Amino acid sequence: MASILRGDDPAAVRRAAALLRAGRLVAFPTETVYGLGADALNPEAVARLFEVKRRPRFDPLIVHLASPAEIERYADRIDPRARALVERFWPGPLTLVLPRRLDAGGRPVIPDIVTSGLDTVALRMPDHPVALALLAETGRPLAAPSANPFGYVSPTSAAHVVEQLGDAVDLVLDGGACRVGVESTVVSLAGDRPRLLRPGGTPLEAIESVIGPVEVEAPSARAPEAPGQLPSHYAPRTPLVLLASRDDPARLARRRPDERVGLLALAPAPDAAKFAAVETLSADGDLREAAQRLFGALRRLDAAGLDRIVAEPCPEVGLGRAIMDRLRRASA
Ligand code: TXA
Ligand code: MG
Repeated sequence: MASILRGDDPAAVRRAAALLRAGRLVAFPTETVYGLGADALNPEAVARLFEVKRRPRFDPLIVHLASPAEIERYADRIDPRARALVERFWPGPLTLVLPRRLDAGGRPVIPDIVTSGLDTVALRMPDHPVALALLAETGRPLAAPSANPFGYVSPTSAAHVVEQLGDAVDLVLDGGACRVGVESTVVSLAGDRPRLLRPGGTPLEAIESVIGPVEVEAPSARAPEAPGQLPSHYAPRTPLVLLASRDDPARLARRRPDERVGLLALAPAPDAAKFAAVETLSADGDLREAAQRLFGALRRLDAAGLDRIVAEPCPEVGLGRAIMDRLRRASA
């Protein structure tokens, strides 16, 4: 089993940094979800990361940076929109996909295994004191996917990481519960027009207020340019039905007497007693709070021995866009 150390202990951060520099894997907290980190400049370490996550090699990783200035080392042709977004949202839950930088010899600075051989690189500066301390102490960019097996619900606590990746991770830094609770928003600025590749912790409205309209594409199972876009992702093992509205008849329909149905409610539900288990995401339907609690609630429902989970939809504004995206994938 991996050891868990307190992320606010400088000695623990030094130990984690030494492991990372030696090519080992360390799970660490960010403001969005826990990441499983590897030295992004070490292809062998990154190969182990793909193995541990059982993640397909065609799904590129996000490279985490200690400061906004580091963007120059790994990206190329950084346009004014990218600079405006960095200025406004970093550190924070926004990942930018930019043309990757080549060194003097024409080789990509960030190795192909990290970017799946694409000519772009995804960069983000997390807003969490433990992540930032670890990045500074390691002195390397860190490739870090969410610290869960590929396709399952992302971890928002150190305990979630240990439950699922316990034997495979060398060390877990504990930074408590993640403040945002859903992954970063991924925006591509590598083409002519900005494109939203994954809704997440930074609301699209906030991004558009800085750079204007961003193209939003319907997710496609065929073209995994951001395989967070694959339909069956963030999925609990229990079948999940996403309701069309709070009073969708499917909420209580087609139930055998012995069937155990769980409810994922956005706000307190009057018919809660009719379900074998209920998770309420927010007392007053607050979307930030709901996002923060979403993955933990899905895990608890998944562990409750249910035949089925029914999930209430939420408005697709602000953090609601990320919540609905995760629920749609969980129900695919
Ligand atoms: O909040 C987050 O972003 C968390 C924490 C740990 O930082 N990380 C995370 O990583 O969610 P991961 O690997 O679970 O998701 C990375 C997403 C995937 O959808 C991937 O396809 C996309 O970013 N991505 C990475 N590099 C890309 C690239 N060059 N072009 C397009 N999409 C890319
Ligand atoms: Mg993930």
